[in-house]
Amino acid sequence: MALRAYDKIISRCSTICRAGELALTARILSGTEIRDQIYADLKKDIAELKAMGIQPGLAAVLVGNNPASQMYVKSKVAACSELGLFSEMITPPDTISTEELLAMVGQLNRRDEIDGILVQLPLPKQVSAKRILDAVDPEKDVDGFHPVSVGRLVAGQPGLVACTPAGVMEILRRSGIAVEGANAVVMGRSDIVGKPMALLLMHAHATVTICHSKTKNLPDVVRRADIVVAAMGKAGMVQPDWIKPGATVIDVGTNKLTDAALAEKLYASNPKRLEKFREKGFTTCGDVHPDAAQVAGAITPVPGGVGPLTIAMLMSNTVKAARLRRGGRVAEPAAAKG
Ligand code: GUN
Repeated sequence: MALRAYDKIISRCSTICRAGELALTARILSGTEIRDQIYADLKKDIAELKAMGIQPGLAAVLVGNNPASQMYVKSKVAACSELGLFSEMITPPDTISTEELLAMVGQLNRRDEIDGILVQLPLPKQVSAKRILDAVDPEKDVDGFHPVSVGRLVAGQPGLVACTPAGVMEILRRSGIAVEGANAVVMGRSDIVGKPMALLLMHAHATVTICHSKTKNLPDVVRRADIVVAAMGKAGMVQPDWIKPGATVIDVGTNKLTDAALAEKLYASNPKRLEKFREKGFTTCGDVHPDAAQVAGAITPVPGGVGPLTIAMLMSNTVKAARLRRGGRVAEPAAAKG
């Protein structure tokens, strides 16, 4: 490295240290930047479809008044309008029955202008989420939750893949992180993230270990990882000394942290963040202790890491579904295959 560039980095680092802030060593993998790259690619793709008279369309079903779900679905619909996709939000009350919701999904399955159907989870307890998700036409299953989509993923066939793990793969690919031959540890075995994540990493030729609440010697298992994907939903659980120096850490956690004692522990080296927490009484934090950034080679921030990619991949799946449903007439562009 040229001496002047090196001096600049050292001087920036000592400024940060003097201000009492965290001296980051990891490269920060910005999900918002990668989301913007994906949107730029999608806009070209959508313009190409428009020239053929096709406007991909997404139907979002939001049951009841869960504030977090309302916020997520609004963001999904806003992303559609930003990209020029057709979207429709259906908002049945939380008293809806399984049969009534099945009828709504059936109607959406039959509408040709709808390419993607998303039923926001969680559903009220009287509704069978399994029956609803299984009722979505697999060709419109932009969440990738249908057993047919999962089966295609297991078999390595083209199809619609769950958005969050697909987004993680985009972060790795677009950041030039080598997956082939890497030891990857996936923490969490959910149907939505952990299981599809492990399959995608395996298909990309990583050696994959899946950890869960019953895994023995968890820190030792994580220490062997070149790539860690943390998706357990436990605020700040992954400690800095669990991370192999130089490893890539992908933090899927989005936990609403209100516990002041835990916030003081997690953000002890980040006074600005702590000050914000004290002002607002909460912060969104990941499953990884923020100080892991002092050990990792690359790490996704929370917020602004994996989160933006989940919506980006939903948009990408909607466009993909619009092409797949029309078969050979509108083949996928080479860059979007996989
Ligand atoms: N609830 C939390 N995450 C998701 C998601 O990715 N899709 C749907 N449909 N519901 C969710």
